[in-house]
Amino acid sequence: MERTKENSPSILLFPWLGIGHVNPFLALAKKLSKMNFHIYFLSTPIILKSIKKTLDKNSSSNNFPIQLVEFHLPYLHKLPPHHHTTNGLPPHLNSTLIQAFQMASSKFPSIIETLKPNLIIYDGFQPWASTIASSCNIHAIMFFVSSTSNLAYLYHQFLHGIPSLTSFPFSSLYLHDYEIKKLGMQPIEPRDDKAFGYIILKSFEQSHDIVLLNTFRETEGKYIDYVSTIGNKELIPIGPLILEEAIGEEEHFVTIQSWLDKKEKCSCVYVSFGSERFFSKQEIEEIASGLELSKVNFIWTIKFTIGVNTTIEEMVPQGFLESTNGKGMVIEGWVPQTQILNHSSIGGFVTHCGWNSILESMSFGVPIIAMPMNHDQPFNSRLVEELGIGVEILRGENGEIKREDVAKGIGKVVGEMTRKEVNLKARELSEKIKMKGEKVIDEGVKKLLKLLC
Ligand SMILES: *[C@@H]1O[C@H](CO)[C@@H](O)[C@H](O)[C@H]1NC(C)=O
Ligand SMILES: *[C@@H]1O[C@H](CO)[C@@H](O)[C@H](O)[C@H]1NC(C)=O
Ligand SMILES: *[C@@H]1O[C@H](CO)[C@@H](O)[C@H](O)[C@H]1NC(C)=O
Ligand SMILES: *[C@@H]1O[C@H](CO)[C@@H](O)[C@H](O)[C@H]1NC(C)=O
Repeated sequence: MERTKENSPSILLFPWLGIGHVNPFLALAKKLSKMNFHIYFLSTPIILKSIKKTLDKNSSSNNFPIQLVEFHLPYLHKLPPHHHTTNGLPPHLNSTLIQAFQMASSKFPSIIETLKPNLIIYDGFQPWASTIASSCNIHAIMFFVSSTSNLAYLYHQFLHGIPSLTSFPFSSLYLHDYEIKKLGMQPIEPRDDKAFGYIILKSFEQSHDIVLLNTFRETEGKYIDYVSTIGNKELIPIGPLILEEAIGEEEHFVTIQSWLDKKEKCSCVYVSFGSERFFSKQEIEEIASGLELSKVNFIWTIKFTIGVNTTIEEMVPQGFLESTNGKGMVIEGWVPQTQILNHSSIGGFVTHCGWNSILESMSFGVPIIAMPMNHDQPFNSRLVEELGIGVEILRGENGEIKREDVAKGIGKVVGEMTRKEVNLKARELSEKIKMKGEKVIDEGVKKLLKLLC
């Protein structure tokens, strides 16, 4: 079917306010707009502002521009509009943001009545989007942006109660004791409508017939099949969808590139822990000392919450910047992650294992040195080990980060021992991803079109 501006179906995309959610939704928006769908992208003004920067550059390359639509959260004293995003949000305001987002659901009906989209693609944090859509006779489907192995675990836990890891059929996805105890991996109380896991599953159940997944069969096939069976939905893996130029990244690449250009192939690690995790001074010291002990080259990006008045110099151990001068580069704030991972001097990625980072690492064939923190990250890390594309850094009994273990983890990937095997596996996976190309998304879109008729 040839689609023209006049008969082109419209799709409203509506992610949760986390950067790790907005990015894959935006990547999907770009793909769909290239396939001549009219796209509405619904988010808060602060998020749209950062997206706009990346869209402006290429506005002429899309015949069907992505139309940004503002979603206003209610005014709460504690939560000024620049905090209507998880980016830089002080952790104590995190539940306030969720609350404000839920409150704003009352604005959703009038938005969809005005825009009249043919389809809504919503995120796991807003099951109400689907309820409201169906009351307006619009189909709504969920796009799950995290790993399906994590979804499998949530589902299993929900169906089988607590403690359920023992009966979980995938023993490769276990949790360390310190993760169960310390990282807030609380079991889901069935029907506790404040628990994240429950909200996600409710979103899943509300999804009209199908659920889109940002993953692919080669890595998560068995988890996809499992969830599809117990959840009784058709799951469509359309990943890995990554945003080549992620939002919020400044253009410091020229400096970084010329620095990387001078280094030997696979001799550097890239160290980044995502946009929502902030370390204590002591943790930063352990990581810094670990990097120094490992003796490899590194690019390390550190983020502070907005409003925290500190500097890199104050946070790293005294003398660290001097003693690693030439060997390491420490950068505050955003860096162009995909471009760094795509550089041939990068031989490993020290990451918190956010799903987008994992997908990017897989796409560029960079082995992972895993340091998972919370949410789905421990499972993502176990998956990395299962696939043989990386190693996990060991922790102390209570989950504490220790310099020797950081150095050892890095050494296993960028050092001599396991370097070959892990590298090979990572390279192979990235080749598979490249071979698939646009095939998966094309197939996914065919199924979406059926829902539109
Ligand atoms: C912009 O368009 C050019 C050429 O079509 C493409 O190579 C580039 O990746 C695009 N950039 C973004 C941010 O989409
Ligand atoms: C945000 O709050 C939720 C619930 O209070 C918690 O589970 C989660 O870990 C928090 N996230 C961050 C980044 O602090
Ligand atoms: C941040 O700290 C610097 C030096 O310690 C000080 O000069 C500056 O006024 C502080 N800024 C804020 C916003 O507190
Ligand atoms: C990755 O690098 C290669 C060349 O080294 C280049 O052709 C390709 O476009 C780059 N990909 C991205 C997404 O930057």
